[in-house]
Amino acid sequence: MDGYLFSILPSLVQANIYIHTRRWISDKHNRKWAAFPKVALGSSNGTIPLLGFGTAVFPFTASETMKESILHAIKLGYRHFDAAAVYHSEGPLGEAIAEALRLGLIKSRDDLFITSKLWCSDGHRDLVLPALRNTLQNLGLEYLDLYLIHFPVSLEPAARYDVPFKTEDLRPMDFKAVWEAMEECRELGLTKNIGVSNFSCKKLEQLLLTSKIPPVVNQVEISPLWQQKKLRKFCEEKGIHVTAYSPLGARGTAWGSNEVLDCEILKAIAEAKGKTTAQVCLRWVYEQGVSVLVKSFNKERIKENLDIFDWKLSPEECHMIDQIPQQKSCDGLVFISDEGPYKSVEELWDEKISFLVERACDI
Ligand code: A2P
Repeated sequence: MDGYLFSILPSLVQANIYIHTRRWISDKHNRKWAAFPKVALGSSNGTIPLLGFGTAVFPFTASETMKESILHAIKLGYRHFDAAAVYHSEGPLGEAIAEALRLGLIKSRDDLFITSKLWCSDGHRDLVLPALRNTLQNLGLEYLDLYLIHFPVSLEPAARYDVPFKTEDLRPMDFKAVWEAMEECRELGLTKNIGVSNFSCKKLEQLLLTSKIPPVVNQVEISPLWQQKKLRKFCEEKGIHVTAYSPLGARGTAWGSNEVLDCEILKAIAEAKGKTTAQVCLRWVYEQGVSVLVKSFNKERIKENLDIFDWKLSPEECHMIDQIPQQKSCDGLVFISDEGPYKSVEELWDEKISFLVERACDI
């Protein structure tokens, strides 16, 4: 017996070291998670981490790089991930979550805040619940933390997730009917929260008229070049949390441009502070009290984007950023058609807008 014990001792020691190392890594990450800034969400009891990881790349495709980048982000402490059916990012995100659990980087799925979005071709009363079930299957999860209507417009169901889509497939969205189905998703416990994306004040007002459960989040484009002061004020008054997408201008996508990261005022502030232009953008958005989603599949930049919490912008720097001429990046031109629900970008966004660049293609 002693001989047997002696022979298995090295394996027991190894197993013990393994268990303790895993626990140590996991505790270290959970301490980081606990310290990560969060804010309470309106009508729900939950909170949303104020920095999240975006997964949209254009053209929309799943990739191993996406999965590896998400896993790396979890290792570094990111806990909020933003996906969408149309991005094809739910599969890689689900795989990364499963791997993070296997590696002990997180104790349970509950440690994460996972968002996904209802695409326009599923923007019909009867298609919402099946779309969410499909999203959960792609992710390998039992529930989402947040499910959003991606755009305030529907597409013929046959348009599926193909982008670009045909403008003749555009349909007006029946907000009341689609929102009822979103409410049902929440009541079934398939998502903890429901919200919208790309909604103007006017469209939110219309939705609020008939909703039993108000949207807790409106996810919209926000950067120092598109500050959305009016919409943010409106959402604050209505108790709707705002999440910013494209805070760096979404360089490299069909709806993005280099102009945010090339902005001379932001570059000058960054240089004076010993920070990068990206960090100045992210810090500025964070200081507005909204949550910010940033996408990077580069290890150094994923780390760099986390470093925005232990310093701040001075009142003078905020004043300089306030003076930046306002221009939107995501024009939404693909949703505009003479036969469709929106005949002009002004009708889509409900305001007069100047855009950063003219584009032939957009989403
Ligand atoms: P990459 O994935 O190669 O890092 P947004 O978050 O506004 O959508 O912007 C995403 C774009 O900005 C991507 O092209 C991403 O490229 C790039 N990006 C992300 N973080 C940084 C950073 N810290 N510095 C420069 N570019 C960045």
